Amino acid sequence: MGFMKIILNVLLLVRCWCIAEELELVYQWDQLSSAVSSEHNDILFDAQQSTTQYNESFNAYGNLPMGVSHHKGRLFVTVPRRRPGIPATLNVINMGKVTEVNNPTLLGYPDYLTNTLHQDYSADPKRIISVYRTKVDKCDRLWFVDTGYLEYPGNRRQVQRPALWVINLNTNRRVRRFEIPKEIVEFGYGMPNLEIDVEPGKCDEAYAYIADYQWQGLYVYGLAEDRMWRFKHNFFSFEPRYGRFNIAGQQFVWNDGLFSLAVGARNKDTGDRSVYLHAMAAISEIVVPNSVLKNETLSRSGEDHYAERFKHMGSRGPNTQSSSHAFDEKTGVLFYAEVNRNAIGCWNSAQEFHAENHGIVHLDNENMIYPADLTIDNDSVLWVISNRLPIWIYSKLNTTDFNYRIWRQSTEKSIDGTICA
Ligand SMILES: *[C@@H]1O[C@H](CO)[C@@H](O)[C@H](O)[C@H]1NC(C)=O
Ligand SMILES: *[C@@H]1O[C@H](CO)[C@@H](O)[C@H](O)[C@H]1NC(C)=O
Ligand SMILES: *[C@@H]1O[C@H](CO)[C@@H](O)[C@H](O)[C@H]1NC(C)=O
Ligand SMILES: *[C@@H]1O[C@H](CO)[C@@H](O)[C@H](O)[C@H]1NC(C)=O
Repeated sequence: MGFMKIILNVLLLVRCWCIAEELELVYQWDQLSSAVSSEHNDILFDAQQSTTQYNESFNAYGNLPMGVSHHKGRLFVTVPRRRPGIPATLNVINMGKVTEVNNPTLLGYPDYLTNTLHQDYSADPKRIISVYRTKVDKCDRLWFVDTGYLEYPGNRRQVQRPALWVINLNTNRRVRRFEIPKEIVEFGYGMPNLEIDVEPGKCDEAYAYIADYQWQGLYVYGLAEDRMWRFKHNFFSFEPRYGRFNIAGQQFVWNDGLFSLAVGARNKDTGDRSVYLHAMAAISEIVVPNSVLKNETLSRSGEDHYAERFKHMGSRGPNTQSSSHAFDEKTGVLFYAEVNRNAIGCWNSAQEFHAENHGIVHLDNENMIYPADLTIDNDSVLWVISNRLPIWIYSKLNTTDFNYRIWRQSTEKSIDGTICA
């Protein structure tokens, strides 16, 4: 072995020692099962005789998990109602009670009744119709948008107005339900994600930032105001050059706009926080001060008055199309779920925003196909769910293989040895 080769090998070894710790697998499923399905199927409806148009018995294949968030040993897992036969769109896993990694059972949250559809699909503000993703805030609350929308193929319907929910996680009781007015958006189906902006100790002054990829809007809800206002901007659109996806053998074009928002660090001079945002079919990142989003008067004064406050930061690099992203206060790092390369990406906000300053903390073309959601809990732990969505949509999942996985890692460990450290 030549001297140079030895040197090279040593260098490679050293590189391996300091490589980031990849994400750790927490749970995996081939198909979901439900606590309800095995015992009493009829809980799906509140009446015994089924006169519904659809067979709403538990349909394992239709239950595709989409979002994950963590609070004190409980994981909140969403299953949007895109097929009949979903007993609960909002679910919980009590991690202390679940020791199995494989195929743990989901439980409806806060209970099955709240998740139950009426037999005639009639509206009911006490019920949750369909949820994509959730957020846990610094005040022990769970936030989500109930789209109110059933996306059954061939029969999509708005059962009721979309609504923002807030649940107190200590009592498991609803503390707010705000119906999103028609003036904000007519249909509920384009709201995949939201972000909460709140300072600890000022829990009453929380703001929710809701992305709408379909109608390319950003809706802000003020908890104290109990009102919602809307921002419009061209930057909320998809980028035509980056709408082509190639995931696990599936090639397709999406035109999803604004998809994820992440509240960043506080600017010491202005007192504002940066809010990062991006469209799904895009590789650009945008930033806006949170004081702009919180300003209802400004939003109502028209796009011309705030358009320039939204800044285009630059490109994250090739194939970095991202579903959710989240900011970690401890490390100052922004983490992205990168659906087009089955990876978790990172950027340290202390560095300039360039593609070269973006790193990868985990990449797995087999086990992490389509990271659909990424959240960071109060202890700076990353949570990721991957669900092979494009195969589910455009082909067929192998139902004896593990398709859905939940992952975690401390943010510090995950960036160790990457450009984001
Ligand atoms: C509904 O679906 C379940 C599960 O797939 C099946 O066992 C049942 O026979 C179906 N019921 C009707 C009325 O088609
Ligand atoms: C979050 O973490 C901070 C510090 O680690 C702690 O003081 C606070 O109580 C935690 N809050 C919640 C809601 O867990
Ligand atoms: C909100 O925006 C309006 C209009 O630009 C401005 O006059 C006002 O000072 C802003 N309010 C705050 C609290 O920044
Ligand atoms: C499905 O997955 C199982 C488990 O990984 C594997 O043994 C089997 O070959 C797969 N089937 C197909 C058709 O790929």
